[in-house]
Amino acid sequence: MTSLKNKILFFLFLSLLYSCSEEGSKQAFIDSEIEKYLSSMSIEEKVGQIFMIEISHISPEEVRDYKIGAILNGGGSFPYGKADHALEDWQTLADEYFLASKNGENGSGIPVIWGTDAVHGHNNLKGAVLYPHNIGLGATRNLELIKTLSSAVAKEVYLSGLDMTFAPAVSVPLDDRWGRTYEGFSEDPSLVAKMGKASVEGYQGELGKNYLDKGKVLATAKHYIGDGGTLNGVDKGNTVLDETDLLELHGQGYQTTIDAGVEFIMASFNSWNGQKLHGHKYLLTDVLKDRLGFQGVVLGDWNGHQEVDGCHSYTCPEAINAGLDMFMVTDSWKKLYENTLEQVKSGQISLERLNDAVSRILRVKILYGLFTKEQPTERQFNFIKDSIGSKEHRDLARQAVRESLVLLKNNENTLPLDPDSTILVIGKGSRDISKASGGWSFTWQGTGNTNDNFPGATTIYKGIEDFVQKAGGNVSYSSDGSYSEKPDSAIIVVGENPYAEYQGSVENLAFENNEIDHLKIAHSLRKDGISVTYIFLSGRPLWVNKELNSSDAFVAAWLPGTEGDGIAEVIFAQTIEGNPVDFKGKLPFSWPKTINQTNLNFWDADYDPLFEYGYGLTYLERSNLDQLNENDQFTKKLKLGDVLLQGWPSPQFKVYVGFLNKTFELEGKSVGSPNGEVFVQIVDGKLQEDAHRVALNVGSSKWYLEPTEIMNLEEEEKASGILTFDFKINKQDAINPLYYLVDCGENCDVELDLTTFINTLQVDRWQTLGIPLKCLKERGVDLKYIESPIGFTSKGTWEFEVGKVYLEGGEGGKSIFPCK
Ligand code: BGC
Ligand code: BGC
Repeated sequence: MTSLKNKILFFLFLSLLYSCSEEGSKQAFIDSEIEKYLSSMSIEEKVGQIFMIEISHISPEEVRDYKIGAILNGGGSFPYGKADHALEDWQTLADEYFLASKNGENGSGIPVIWGTDAVHGHNNLKGAVLYPHNIGLGATRNLELIKTLSSAVAKEVYLSGLDMTFAPAVSVPLDDRWGRTYEGFSEDPSLVAKMGKASVEGYQGELGKNYLDKGKVLATAKHYIGDGGTLNGVDKGNTVLDETDLLELHGQGYQTTIDAGVEFIMASFNSWNGQKLHGHKYLLTDVLKDRLGFQGVVLGDWNGHQEVDGCHSYTCPEAINAGLDMFMVTDSWKKLYENTLEQVKSGQISLERLNDAVSRILRVKILYGLFTKEQPTERQFNFIKDSIGSKEHRDLARQAVRESLVLLKNNENTLPLDPDSTILVIGKGSRDISKASGGWSFTWQGTGNTNDNFPGATTIYKGIEDFVQKAGGNVSYSSDGSYSEKPDSAIIVVGENPYAEYQGSVENLAFENNEIDHLKIAHSLRKDGISVTYIFLSGRPLWVNKELNSSDAFVAAWLPGTEGDGIAEVIFAQTIEGNPVDFKGKLPFSWPKTINQTNLNFWDADYDPLFEYGYGLTYLERSNLDQLNENDQFTKKLKLGDVLLQGWPSPQFKVYVGFLNKTFELEGKSVGSPNGEVFVQIVDGKLQEDAHRVALNVGSSKWYLEPTEIMNLEEEEKASGILTFDFKINKQDAINPLYYLVDCGENCDVELDLTTFINTLQVDRWQTLGIPLKCLKERGVDLKYIESPIGFTSKGTWEFEVGKVYLEGGEGGKSIFPCK
């Protein structure tokens, strides 16, 4: 017994020793290879390696001459600029770059890497399969599926001759107004972390198993860090959090993808507490590399370095010094190259830092086997049977579509529909692959496409038509809801039009549809006894109370991609592998009850969604949704903690300055009266662009904040609300006081003389001040009817700065206006 146990232990010990030494010798080999290359490289060659340049700005000859490390194609950028391309165009161009890079004149021959945004399939390539965007994958909760489909995407990228994808996004979108919400899997950081890991394992293969085998490509976790946490969901905005929260909310996906061996991490456009990530040494080097142990390459985003203070597109030693290993650049790459070279020569960038960056890049190229890989056109010979857009890949995408659909309403069990009946389909989304695919689909924005750009794709309508006809039913399309034969049921397909990045950011969560009057159509169909099912296409949850009320059944279908027939499989409960298909999708994001619940996440203290995170009906449940409030969106409520203004006003507010009876709205970064009596400008206060510098130059001028709808602050007063604001005095009038101004409708302007209060403050220093709502009430403000909660006016000359304005409870560490 004991001897057997000993034997087993001994065996385990031996195999451990063996695997350690195997690991160790592999590591030693990689190190010696890196050393071999590094020691023979000139400074020029090293600088060339830290560049990734967009293909429309660099030729293969330039890649050769400048010894460039990597290239990319941006969204909607095709080989030879050909939108009407074939697979061979990608492979041939990849050959040209690859061979040019290997044939550098002095024989250094470090092959170039080509990266692309294969973010939901190989989405720039004509004929590739487009999978649901990450938001839909989040709804599936199926990690195995994500791994499998990422591995299918990797194969398509590999077969086209490319090496790398800028995916997965492990963003955690917290404010759904953000135009990139759909690129994130979920509002739940831990789900994002798991899904990010699964997709890296799919793209790159698994460590110790099939890691970076043939047919795998390099993955990129992005955008490090806090891209989904910016104030008001502003793209490239500012994420204001302490470090623990930053890592807890936005960092989990980096830890899991690093553990899975992700080789690239893309720095984000956003700032953390006012400082841009591309120049953030603490986050890029101390946290990411040193603490989280990332050994791969920190890649810049699209000219992202130029946003760092003091940088331009053509010069930014700050970024490299902060820990960026590779610039992503477009037209100004030559100047940036020359400046960077100069900066290394002058010591502004240390040779040590450059060597570290180049070593990381070489390490990735060695691990990926790039030095021994065939030229791109020959890579497909390893996968003779596999083709782009194969049935196998389309089956996978359809499975993902099926599992991503979330059933939000199914009154009287309207679904599943009977295929052996008469069905009317309405809405152009049902026949438009672009609308079902969203941004990053053939073109960057996903706009400007026709279905011809998606050969092999199946529309939602086609999926319905095929199945209904097979079952003996009748199906027709109508653009306006009219019909010749009365249908038994109608399917309305509507939703958002495609967008990407900042172009998709919105002010609130209202669903704006200008395509057809679908509500009217739905009402009249239902009046005629025809059931109405909505298939809603969107990149985020939106306020759709009216649509929900006008429907019998409602399906959130996200952005399903090219395999639209997955939808018919679920709504008709088709039989697949012997079983009727049911809904599986669960909400990956909380669904709002009002258009202003933009920052709605399941851990909120006052969480009050329409549908909770994780909600999703199945056919086994019987559940009827009652009529919902359709006007709710107009009652603007403030909650304690809400930010009204921080440089840029929150969407429900506007900023004005006024002189005599004329007012001027702040629309850009500054505004003033024509003769300069009053002027306001957005400036850097504590953070970037977070404060208003207000100059009241002549008497009777003012600055004020106005909500887009009248506000009622009675309840907030009961909750001891205090209007709190950061304030700094630059110039003080010796005689004329400054007044705090509240506007509560006609004959209800209340002014508080701030003189005594202000005399206790220091000039030129930020202070946090508070005006209790109770005090306003005592001074006669009608809290039910607030037209402007905060403003300043004087008869004299003042200059001051207003920073963050928010509604707080309790006393806090601020100076409170003595009301008396
Ligand atoms: C490119 C995208 C890129 C964007 C950045 C577009 O022109 O096609 O790939 O992300 O610019 O602004
Ligand atoms: C985006 C990235 C993308 C890159 C390359 C940028 O604008 O932020 O997500 O990978 O462009 O297209």
